[in-house]
Amino acid sequence: MSNIERVCKFLEDAKTYYLATVEGDQPRVRPFGTALIFEDKLYIQTGKVKPVSKQLAANPKAEICAFLNGQWIRVAGELINDDRREPKVAMLEKNPALKAMYSADDDNTQVLYFKNATATFSSFTAAPETVSF
Ligand SMILES: Cc1cc2nc3c(=O)[nH]c(=O)nc-3n(C[C@H](O)[C@H](O)[C@H](O)COP(=O)(O)O)c2cc1C
Repeated sequence: MSNIERVCKFLEDAKTYYLATVEGDQPRVRPFGTALIFEDKLYIQTGKVKPVSKQLAANPKAEICAFLNGQWIRVAGELINDDRREPKVAMLEKNPALKAMYSADDDNTQVLYFKNATATFSSFTAAPETVSF
């Protein structure tokens, strides 16, 4: 499994991760669950109407954290908007429940991918492992 696949699988297995953004000098954090590898990039999904989307438009720096079975991951980088239809379709196909609220052709659905990402796997029992993608 490649590094980016390991990161995506960890997020999938954890089911919920926490996405931190920046608003001025104030950190903002909330639970998220979407994660998809598309064209060798790690994508997440949100709605353009949400504050999280506006924060990322103003400052793409973001970090996510998830915890599962004594291990945790942090992924730091920039989240870049991708307005193409294809990754939106792929995201909705992977998460059919989203189709109740989103479609690839609405003005709201947004997918973003990590750029310049550094992921660190940590636990209390082993040295941290850092990968980049
Ligand atoms: C378990 C869980 C998973 C969630 N996954 C997502 C997600 O992948 N994308 C999203 O936009 N909102 C998701 N949400 C909802 C956001 O947490 C919620 O809309 C939040 O208010 C967005 O942050 P904001 O208010 O700062 O924009 C999820 C909520 C929960 C409880």
